[in-house]
Amino acid sequence: MSKFFVANWKSNKTLTGVAEWIGTFQVADIPESAEVIIAPPFQLLSEVKQHLEAPLKLAAQDVSAFPMGSYTGAVNAQQLKDIGCEYVIVGHSERRRYFHETHADVANKIQQALTNNLKPIVCLDEDYIDQQVAALENKDIPGLIVAYEPLEAIGSGNNAPADQVSRVVAKIKSVFGEVPVLYGGSVDERSVHEYLLITDGVLVGGASLEAESFQSIVAAAKLE
Ligand code: PGA
Repeated sequence: MSKFFVANWKSNKTLTGVAEWIGTFQVADIPESAEVIIAPPFQLLSEVKQHLEAPLKLAAQDVSAFPMGSYTGAVNAQQLKDIGCEYVIVGHSERRRYFHETHADVANKIQQALTNNLKPIVCLDEDYIDQQVAALENKDIPGLIVAYEPLEAIGSGNNAPADQVSRVVAKIKSVFGEVPVLYGGSVDERSVHEYLLITDGVLVGGASLEAESFQSIVAAAKLE
């Protein structure tokens, strides 16, 4: 089964950084068993799309909870689909923390994404799995990809222990059903191997900013 490798660039990079990254990342070296998804900030989506070679896929890091219309500053799911996104990250803990997104907001974003044929990658920590599920429409759940992202592991260099990840992945699958479940939180080229044994892939922040280090992470799919 193929494994997901999501590069979440967060609020990093300008046009110059994209050219360097795309110029360095070797698409030909992507193992067949890897689904590689790049999530640049909004203003770089078109630029990345222009240089993106198959089989790389494009994701947005967020989506409006509203459809096309008078919602100043919002980028909606129809617009993301239109510029070539296939996936969208929803409910990242940084959105919940700094932008005060609620479980209901995340549910509305998921609905907008699914209505426009974008695949949502919904981020969760263990504490609020049940509350988030309670806010979702049952019909939306089978279309999700879930990323287990423990708060203390994100950007800290303290990636979560494998036994903890296994336990929470099992819990997520028991609640969501057989959806793909990824792990995110300080994944690097050393730690990725253990997570690929127990998850459907990884969501990578810091270590995805340099093309070389992300390439090494993606290369781990070969060994699976
Ligand atoms: P990190 O970020 O790899 O820098 O910890 C992961 C994430 O927040 O998605």
